[in-house]
Amino acid sequence: MTEHTHNHHHPDHDEVFDRDFWENKYQTAHHAALHHDPNPYVTTVAAGLTPGRALDAGCGAGPEAIWLARQGWEVTAVDISSVALDHARAFAAREPAEVAGRITWQQADLTTWAAPAGSYDLVCTNYVHALDEIVPALAAAVRPGGTLLVVDHFDILAVLDPAEWRPIPLKAEQRVVMATFDGSEKVLDDRVMAAVRVSAGAP
Ligand SMILES: C[S@@+](CC[C@H](N)C(=O)[O-])C[C@H]1O[C@@H](n2cnc3c(N)ncnc32)[C@H](O)[C@@H]1O
Repeated sequence: MTEHTHNHHHPDHDEVFDRDFWENKYQTAHHAALHHDPNPYVTTVAAGLTPGRALDAGCGAGPEAIWLARQGWEVTAVDISSVALDHARAFAAREPAEVAGRITWQQADLTTWAAPAGSYDLVCTNYVHALDEIVPALAAAVRPGGTLLVVDHFDILAVLDPAEWRPIPLKAEQRVVMATFDGSEKVLDDRVMAAVRVSAGAP
């Protein structure tokens, strides 16, 4: 495949993050290695919310979606990679039936997917590229009163209307430490943005 056929080109190097890239990544990954703890920002923010409907955008092998379903959330988990979703379904199949039954896995490209507007109590997205393209639609998918959580290295507040969103400050102790696969600890330095949708915004 030649480079000009790709949409997303990373400026720093020649890697592109299209569907083929992610399918290949999950195809060559060891299934067991994809089983890891849910993102600590997701668990911290969701722990303060009443379970309702959640959208996990770019769910990968599903650790957050499965954790949310365990807490009672009805989860729509979307990823561009059908192989990632196969891994995720296999992990979910180890859960009690009512937990697995609360998750709808869906293959879609978030840059073009029409997220149902105003439908979710929580929309989270972690480490998905092309955030500038996908966050406006994800923000629109949050119902008034619901929460948007974006974990990445990107100033997401710049794309949200301050009249519509109230940022949730994360406390210093929520700058979390995460165990890595080799057993060492890593202090996460991601930019994390959590905000509550206080109004439905302009029609
Ligand atoms: C770095 S992984 C993060 C996975 C998971 N959110 C996590 O935190 O472990 C990025 C994920 O986003 C998915 N992804 C990337 N671009 C996407 C797009 N345009 N639409 C849907 N999913 C996408 C990839 O397939 C991959 O599963």
